Amino acid sequence: MTSTSPKNTAQQYWDDFYRDREQKRSGGPNVLLVREVTSMPPGTALDLGCAEGSDALWLAGLGWRVTAADVSATALRRAAERAAEAGLADRIDWQRHDLSQSFPEGSYDLVSAQFLHSPVAREGERESILALAARAVAPGGVLLVVSHAGWPSWQQEPPFDYHFPTNAEIRDGLGLARDEWTVETDELLTRELPGPDGRPGSRADAVLKLRRTA
Ligand SMILES: C[S@@+](CC[C@H](N)C(=O)[O-])C[C@H]1O[C@@H](n2cnc3c(N)ncnc32)[C@H](O)[C@@H]1O
Repeated sequence: MTSTSPKNTAQQYWDDFYRDREQKRSGGPNVLLVREVTSMPPGTALDLGCAEGSDALWLAGLGWRVTAADVSATALRRAAERAAEAGLADRIDWQRHDLSQSFPEGSYDLVSAQFLHSPVAREGERESILALAARAVAPGGVLLVVSHAGWPSWQQEPPFDYHFPTNAEIRDGLGLARDEWTVETDELLTRELPGPDGRPGSRADAVLKLRRTA
């Protein structure tokens, strides 16, 4: 993974990112989270890279008790405001972490990492965070990693050098004991979505859903 600017820390980069764009006051959860989790009974969930809280709010609305972590204090403040407005504040624990430095405590029925990509991450950083994510899954619980698998169709030139890891690479990086996990979803798909100018576009995404059996 290559940094756009080596002096950018994750917190600086992502706080600037959220400050520079309008707050997401509404906005639904990620569709692949919804697809994979709707049938699960509510329990405890950890949302890694929760941004402005859309996924955490959706989970909490279904009855999950959510711990939601992000490096950006701006995103977390906005997310907490949305939770208060929705009457869900007591169901979500917002925690600021640079996940490469610190990680939420506890074990969870669902650990979700939705598009946890960062242009300022160091080599191997995402891999290490996802390995910690797997360790935070309770027996019987699920690790759900949804990743971009390439640039969107409207991006003519890559804005920076970035390797989108395949599900096979992600699985290898988790270092899991094969007899303790089952693969429930391992899928590469193309989603239709509008580009910034509103015209139709698409993007390849990868879904990896693993259940801890022991
Ligand atoms: C591409 S966005 C995805 C946000 C959200 N999960 C979604 O699907 O819309 C990546 C998110 O991860 C957070 N993030 C990036 N690097 C991080 C790190 N080292 N520790 C914690 N959060 C990080 C960013 O602040 C950002 O909110």
